[in-house]
Amino acid sequence: MKRQGSRIPGFHRLCVRDRIRLSGLSDISLELATGGLLPVHADNMVEDVVGVISYPLSIAPNFMVNGTDVFVPMSTEEPSVVAAAARGAKAARQTGGFRAEVSDPVTTAQILLLSPESDAETRLAENREALLNELRGRHPTIESMGGGPKELTWYRLDPDRLVVLIHADTRDALGANVVDSLAEALAPRLESLTGADAIGAIITNAMPERKVTVRASFPVDSLARGEYSPQEAAQRFLHMASWAKDDPMRAVTHNKGIMNGVVAVAMATGQDIRALEAGAHFMASGNGRYGPLSSWHLDGDVLAGTLTIPHTFATVGGMVSRHSLAGVLMKKLNMDSSDRLASIAASAGLACNFSALSVLATEGIQKGHMRLHRRAEKSQD
Ligand code: MEV
Repeated sequence: MKRQGSRIPGFHRLCVRDRIRLSGLSDISLELATGGLLPVHADNMVEDVVGVISYPLSIAPNFMVNGTDVFVPMSTEEPSVVAAAARGAKAARQTGGFRAEVSDPVTTAQILLLSPESDAETRLAENREALLNELRGRHPTIESMGGGPKELTWYRLDPDRLVVLIHADTRDALGANVVDSLAEALAPRLESLTGADAIGAIITNAMPERKVTVRASFPVDSLARGEYSPQEAAQRFLHMASWAKDDPMRAVTHNKGIMNGVVAVAMATGQDIRALEAGAHFMASGNGRYGPLSSWHLDGDVLAGTLTIPHTFATVGGMVSRHSLAGVLMKKLNMDSSDRLASIAASAGLACNFSALSVLATEGIQKGHMRLHRRAEKSQD
């Protein structure tokens, strides 16, 4: 079988140079070899730097996301994660790949108001537009691209504490600095309006309005089998999925398998991993009980999977702008917007989840998933 888009049979058997060439990265091979971060740059990034630390950078083949082929950059220290992603992507590709939907890029900040007057909510409602207007014009670049403050909402934690939320469209940036500065600017105004003491103002990494959902169908025939027929393997797969739904202890590990893929893409593209993880685990506890981020059902001869994660992905700002490899890698691989990047990362998460459940439900982790661990150990002998 010949190459079709990002589907390159035997990609994993090629040498590093051929993988670079086939994924269209030859003209950044120097950056790929050095990792793209010199100590002098690192020293400008954070405090008390003494050097840099490297992780492997891989390209997962086979992905098709929203009808377009893509080579997915992944950085992880764990053997088998990239193989799991590529295997899941190969299966999903047979039914058209991954389809992702992304919400508006709205990031939210919270302000805690202590001891507000009893009519604080009425005053906020009466002044909502005026308050938003006061916030406009503070981030002209984002506003010129259609972003900026969009909405104010609030809720009482208890009679003495009111939380005000600022929702701002931050376009392709995660926008922590944008919403933090809006919240800090609004706090004194809220104090005078409500008679409260503004205790603190900061982004919420819950990302209540910024999410990405990805769906894909995986042919039952593509399941790992062990001794089982495809239909038996599919039923066992669904038992693994329901186990995660009904048992928070299993759900944590199920989600870890998803985050194997999502975080690897985030690492390779210089994202805020802590924001991503914190938001994902908030989402997993969304209904008060920790549960799986993905859901699965059998639809004829395919397993249909859906995954929703917080959209904390950015193609501008933060480390993306300061790391010479992360930014250029995204450009070379046509990840031209934060929405596209979030869609690809979520697809990698669902692909890894499919592969993990497929192997766990049939041949077992030691035989399947861990084969590559053993290969890595052998290479150390
Ligand atoms: C290992 O990194 C990930 C798995 O534990 C995920 C899972 O159990 O679903 C295999």
